[in-house]
Amino acid sequence: MKKINEILGMRYPIIQGAMANIATGEFAAACSNAGAFGIVAVGGLSPEKFEEEIEKCSRLTDKPFGVNLMLMHPQADEIAEIIARHPIAAVTTGAGNPGKYIPMWKEKGIYVMPVVASVLLADRMVKAGADAVIAEGTESGGHVGEMTTLALVPQMVDALDVPVIAAGGIADGRGMAAAYALGACGVQVGTCLLASNECPIHDNYKNAVVKAGDNATVVTGRSANAPVRVLKNKMARQYLLMESKRSERDELEKLTLGSLRKAVFDGDIDNGSFMSGQICGLVKEIRPLADIFADLTEGAEKVIKGLQEV
Ligand SMILES: Cc1cc2nc3c(=O)[nH]c(=O)nc-3n(C[C@H](O)[C@H](O)[C@H](O)COP(=O)(O)O)c2cc1C
Repeated sequence: MKKINEILGMRYPIIQGAMANIATGEFAAACSNAGAFGIVAVGGLSPEKFEEEIEKCSRLTDKPFGVNLMLMHPQADEIAEIIARHPIAAVTTGAGNPGKYIPMWKEKGIYVMPVVASVLLADRMVKAGADAVIAEGTESGGHVGEMTTLALVPQMVDALDVPVIAAGGIADGRGMAAAYALGACGVQVGTCLLASNECPIHDNYKNAVVKAGDNATVVTGRSANAPVRVLKNKMARQYLLMESKRSERDELEKLTLGSLRKAVFDGDIDNGSFMSGQICGLVKEIRPLADIFADLTEGAEKVIKGLQEV
């Protein structure tokens, strides 16, 4: 089985997960330059700003990189066309079915990898022309599904004829080796990159991830059918309390309005929405991206060798 880096042309079989308001052109280029596959995220951006970020990424790296399209973006059609106009190696998509854009992207040689949280949805994406899928478990930071990475990845590998990349709960060589054992051809990571020197988030956010323990996250938004994993703080607790009291949707929306930006840019510990995965408890220090990617890959090789000696 080919690893995802042999398909997309980077050094390591690691994809930097899209992160709204965080995965800028500069950050994606830094990830690509450090040997992974950088992804520019559209979340929180206008089409014009998104195009600027793509152009910035192109200027800052000569390595392959990709973009992420959240399909619930109100200008998704326009953004899909912007993607087709640029020299992008791959696109990841979330929150919907990108089927109507796939022929346009594939005509430009763009590799299409939807992020999916169930086999049924993954199968639908493959039938619509997806080249690979990213199987994302509920351990991950940001919007989440119900299935765990451990249960989801092997079921997807068995059901599909395309490469499967594992995401959710991976932050060291053990997690990456486990992903290979389940049949994945590479990994996508997000949470462990929040604690990188290059990540353009407020220091309070980085420190909160580093300080977090295994039980530090909760899922908010289940009542609104938009579950999101975040660090437990005053805002998250208040949200959960309001959900338990069956508050109206617009009351909940009022509470979270601009909360991701409050976390990312202001480091507002009480009122920000600090998206993070459950693996935050394993992230103990802020390090250069190059060290994180090298440790993941070399760590996985060591674990696999160790298992062969047992
Ligand atoms: C802060 C944050 C923001 C995220 N935003 C997005 C996003 O805009 N689009 C998307 O497809 N995934 C998003 N994700 C999910 C990541 O791309 C990735 O799949 C996930 O972080 C992998 O799991 P991990 O957090 O356990 O490493 C986000 C994750 C985090 C932690």
